[in-house]
Formats: sequence, C-alpha cells, structure tokens
Amino acid sequence: MIRIAVLGGDGIGPEVVAASLPALRRACEKSGLDVEFPEALVGGAAFDATGHPLPPATLKLCDASQAIFFGAVGGPKYDKIPDPNLRPERGSLLPLRKRYELFANLRPARVYPGLEGQSHLKPEYLKGLDLLVIRELTGGAYFGRKELKADRAFDAIEYKASEIERLMHFAFRAAMGRGRRLTLVHKANVLLTSVLWKKVAEKVSRKYPRVKMDDCYVDAFAMYLVRRPASFDVVATENMMGDILTDEAAEVTGSIGLLPSASLGTRGNRLGSFGLYEPCHGSAPDIAGKGLANPLATLLSAALLLRYSLGREKAARALEDAVARTLADGFRTRDLASPAAKGGKGTRAGRLVSTRQMGEAVLERLEKIRFS
Ligand SMILES: NC(=O)c1ccc[n+]([C@@H]2O[C@H](COP(=O)([O-])OP(=O)(O)OC[C@H]3O[C@@H](n4cnc5c(N)ncnc54)[C@H](O)[C@@H]3O)[C@@H](O)[C@H]2O)c1
Repeated sequence: MIRIAVLGGDGIGPEVVAASLPALRRACEKSGLDVEFPEALVGGAAFDATGHPLPPATLKLCDASQAIFFGAVGGPKYDKIPDPNLRPERGSLLPLRKRYELFANLRPARVYPGLEGQSHLKPEYLKGLDLLVIRELTGGAYFGRKELKADRAFDAIEYKASEIERLMHFAFRAAMGRGRRLTLVHKANVLLTSVLWKKVAEKVSRKYPRVKMDDCYVDAFAMYLVRRPASFDVVATENMMGDILTDEAAEVTGSIGLLPSASLGTRGNRLGSFGLYEPCHGSAPDIAGKGLANPLATLLSAALLLRYSLGREKAARALEDAVARTLADGFRTRDLASPAAKGGKGTRAGRLVSTRQMGEAVLERLEKIRFS
C-alpha cells in the first residue's frame, strides 16, 4: 500500500485539496495503484490545535509517505505569532523542504486554449507556450553565510559541484521526457558560482546527447521570457534567479490559480522521488470558505505527483488533459470567468462554477480518458 500524506492547511488550502482528491484517487485506481490518503494538520490549523505548525504526528505521517499533497498555509491571524519559527510558512513549509532535502523545484507554466486573454501579453506571444522552470531550492544566497552590520552586509552565494550536478541531471531527465531542449540560466560573466554552474552543466550534458542544451544570461532571459516565452522548453537555474524567474513565468501565463509546483528531493523508491506537491498560490484568506477558489493548480500538482512520485506518466498526462478539456468546455471559476459568465448566465463565454464543481468537471472528463 502506497501512502500519500494530505496536508490541506489553511484558508483555501483544504478546499482546493478536497476538490482535487477525488480525481487523484481515481487516477491512481485506473493506474492499478493501491494508495491511501491519510490527512494531517499543518500550518495555522495545526498551531491552533497543538501549538505548533508542524506537529510530531504530521511529521511521522510524512516520514512514512511516498509524497505530500499540500494545500496552502498562513493567514493574517498568524502573522502576530511572536516567535517567527512558529508562524505557518516558516514553521512548516521550510522545515519540510529541509527535512526531505527537496532540492529541485519544478514549476510548469502553459497557456490553455481559451485562456490567452488572462495574460498581460498579447495572445500571439503565447501560442505554444509550454515551459518547465526547474529551480535549485536548497543552496545559493538564501542558505549561504550572512552578516548584517550597521554599515555593511553580505549574503554569500555558495554552490558545491555535487549540488549543481544533481539538479542538472534532474533537468536533463525532465527534458528527455519533453521537447529535449534545455536552457541553463546564469550570470557567468560576473558570478563565479555561475561559472561553476556552466562547467558542471556542460559536463552533465555529455551524458544526455539527445538533449540540446544552450545557456543564457539571467538578465537577457528575463527579457526573452516576456518577448518569446514559447521558444523555451526546460529551463534550469540556481535558487535566487529561479525564485524571481518563476514568478515572472507565472505572470506570463496569467492566473495564479492555474500554476502547480513540485519540490523533489534525494529520497525515493522504485516508483519515483519523494516529493511535496502544492499549488503556487497561498491560502487566499480573502476568498476562503466561499467556494470561489480555483482548484486547477492543485489538480495539476496532483498530475505532477503521479508523474514524479508514482511513476505514472500516462495518468499524469490524462489528468492534465482532463484539466485542458474542462477549460475547453468553458468551465470557469470566478478568477477565470469573463464578465458574461460572472453574471451567472452560463453563456458561451464560460460557465461559472464553484471550487467543488470544477473538481467534479475534471473528474468527469478524466473518467472518459483511457490511460490504464
Ligand atoms: N505555499 C504557501 O502555503 C503559501 C504561498 C504564498 C503565500 N502564502 C500565505 O498565504 C496568505 C495569503 O497570501 P497572499 O494573499 O499574498 O497570496 P495568495 O496567493 O494567497 O493570494 C493572492 C491573490 O490571489 C487570489 N488567489 C490565490 N489563489 C487563488 C485560487 N486558487 N483561486 C482564485 N484566486 C486565488 C487571492 O484571492 C488573492 O487575491 C499569507 O498568509 C501568505 O503568507 C502561503
């Protein structure tokens, strides 16, 4: 029996997870996998119940699981907790990333047919956009030596060749399963860590002759990402550059409610890597409890879970396809709806649905796709 730890968290977290779980369960069943989905508290909800955002029972469950299916944590109520280590994000998400050495953060970004108008870019720039940014998550400036004095400060950027190597192998393997193109983003004209990134990436590239690798300075890449986003396939980069570029990529596609993520580490088993899967958005307290949240980012995170932690590529694609068909059939949560659909008329411009109804529509389409 495979175990997936389900941590809904706070705000819209439990709502988007509840709307996505039936499709994830069904995709597992149709793939012949015997999976259980025990739930545990995390974030503010866990703090309220136990006094800690990541209680021992939750950690124990995660330790015994193949993956973590995560909603979102945080909310204004918890910003006032005096000890920052007990606040939801810092006290739960960061320790989970550290504990399981989740060094590779994947954020796929694509534009679904019919949603081109959601982006701030002109539709002609978005045609064919299907990008996977892979960001190194446990090294670089965020984890290097730091010092803050009255008149000076520094944050050291440090990378070991081994840290770069494991990320690059990951990126090349991902590129093999996609368009076989990989772009390394760096700043090797100024930063010595980037010189090492380039050197290691070139060495690793020799093991993947079928993938075409190129590289690009980060400043130029930031420009190309808005000028010709559809020209990229897989992009690999270090921690801080990836942090900034993944937000830019999110904005290019238009809606935060559509962006999934996977954070993968060194642990794994015969099926795949241990991973933490979550939508890119937060707990959205402004719309929590109203059925307004878009669950598609969480459903697409479930597809990543099938792909990377359960080794079920066909099921992952089927779930992604079910999401695309649901959107093509005009289903819209409020964040995606045109003014006509917001009027509740169910016009051709889109049919306004709740969080739960969107999950049901995806499940219905998943049932019709043969993939087992
Ligand atoms: N990984 C995480 O758990 C995570 C990530 C980011 C923020 N947060 C926390 O979430 C809380 C709220 O943060 P924020 O407001 O800056 O960011 P947010 O992503 O929660 O919300 C930003 C805006 O996007 C909207 N939105 C977000 N997700 C949506 C969805 N699925 N469907 C429709 N609309 C959606 C919200 O209504 C809001 O207007 C804070 O406590 C923050 O610390 C948690």
